[in-house]
Amino acid sequence: MRTVLLDLGPLAHLGGQGALSGKSMSNYDLLTSPAGKGIVVQAGVITSIEDSSDLREEYGGPDQSDHESIIISANGNAIVPGLVDGHNHLIWSGDRSNETSMKLQGMTYQEIAASGGGIQHTVQSTRKTSKDELIKLGYQRMRTALRNGTTHLEAKSGYGLTTESELLLLDVANDLKGISHLPTMELTWLGAHDTPKGSDRTSYVEEILSDQLPQILNQGYAQGADVFCEPGWFTVEESEEILRQSKQGGLRQRIHIDEFSDGGGGELAAELGVVTADHAHHTPIESRQRMEEAGVNTGFLPGTPYTMGEPWPSFNNAIEENYRWSVATDFNPNCNILSLPFIGSLLVHRNKVDPLAALVAASRNPSETTIHPDGLVHGRIQVGAAANLNIVDGEHWQSWCNRPGTSPFKSTMLNGNLTHH
Ligand code: NIG
Ligand code: FE
Repeated sequence: MRTVLLDLGPLAHLGGQGALSGKSMSNYDLLTSPAGKGIVVQAGVITSIEDSSDLREEYGGPDQSDHESIIISANGNAIVPGLVDGHNHLIWSGDRSNETSMKLQGMTYQEIAASGGGIQHTVQSTRKTSKDELIKLGYQRMRTALRNGTTHLEAKSGYGLTTESELLLLDVANDLKGISHLPTMELTWLGAHDTPKGSDRTSYVEEILSDQLPQILNQGYAQGADVFCEPGWFTVEESEEILRQSKQGGLRQRIHIDEFSDGGGGELAAELGVVTADHAHHTPIESRQRMEEAGVNTGFLPGTPYTMGEPWPSFNNAIEENYRWSVATDFNPNCNILSLPFIGSLLVHRNKVDPLAALVAASRNPSETTIHPDGLVHGRIQVGAAANLNIVDGEHWQSWCNRPGTSPFKSTMLNGNLTHH
C-alpha cells in the first residue's frame, strides 16, 4: 500500500545530512522548494519526491484511490517536516499553576522549591497516581503534541526519585511508546532530577549508582540518562559520575545545564561529549564553542524563562557564533507547553530568528539528538526519511510559527498515516 500526496504548496523540506548551524539554517535555496511537488510514501518511509503533475500522471488523482494507492491532495497548502521535541518531561501528575502568583511576587524557582513547591511537589502527587491514570495523562499530552505537529519526542522520567517509581514512570512511557497513532518516542531516565525528601544528596547519588541505575538498565526501556546539573541540585562532579556510569551501561548522555546561573555544566558537557546539553541560557560562549567542537548540541528551552518571567535569553548568538542548536518545549509542570509552533513563535517574534532557522531548530537539528524507533532519518522531508510531515493551514510555510495559541496545521502525517486535525 502506498500513499501519494499531490499538489503540495511551498515545501520547507530541510533535506540534507546532519545538523545545521549558523547561516546555513536559513538557506532558503537549499532547504525549501516552490509549490508543485508531490510525495510518495510506502511502509512509513518517503520513497519519492517528484513534480506533482508527474505523480498524477502515474497514479491518478484523489478520486482514483484503490487497494494499492491512497491518493490525497494537499490543495496547495504549505508543508513542513514533522516537528521533533527533543526535551520533554512527559509523565507526571498534579498542578503547580498556583506557583504563578509566587513568581509574580518575585519568588525565585529556588525559593518556590524551598517553600514546598517545585519538583518535590510534583513528585508527591506523581507517586500517589496509579499507572493507568499516568498513562491517560501521557496519552492526552501526546495527542496535544501531535495536534501541534510533533511526530517524535524525547520523554524523561524524573518525578519518581525512588527506584520503584522511576521504573514505573519509564514503564508508563514505554506503554505509550507502543501506540501507533501517537508520536514516536525515545525514553530518558532522569533519576537525578532532585534529591528526594528525607534523603541527603550524597546518599541519593550513592543509591542512584548502586541500585537505581542497575535496575533501570535491567528494565531496558530507557535509551538515555539525564542529570539536572545546576548549582543547588547536582554538582558537576556528581553529574559526571552518574553520566559516566550510565554510558558504561549503554545509555546515551544528556544533561540540563546553566538554567539559572553558570555552574560549569558546559565544560562537563564538552568533556563527556554528551548528545545534548539543554537550557544553557547562562553558559558562556567559550563553553558553547567547546561543546560544538565536541559534537554536543545546545538545546535551548525558551518556554522556561517565558513561564518564569525571567530575563529573556539571546538565541541569535547561536547563529552568529555558528554552533549547532535546537529548541524544545521542556514540557513540565513549571512550563506547561506542548506546542513547538509556540516555541517557534518565541524565537521568531522575541529574538528575530528567521522562521526557517527556527524550523530547523525544531525539526532537523533535534532529530539528530533523538533516535527514531525504526532507526530512520527524521525531522526533514527527503527520500528514505520517516514519512512525517505537517500540512500547514495556509499557503506559506512561515505560518508554522505565526499562530501562537492555536495549531497552524490542518493535518499531520505520522509514519505515513495522515491525521486530520
Ligand atoms: O527542565 N530544571 C529542571 N527540570 C525541569 C523543571 C522541573 C520542574 O520545575 O518541575 C526543567 O525546566
Ligand atoms: Fe528539562
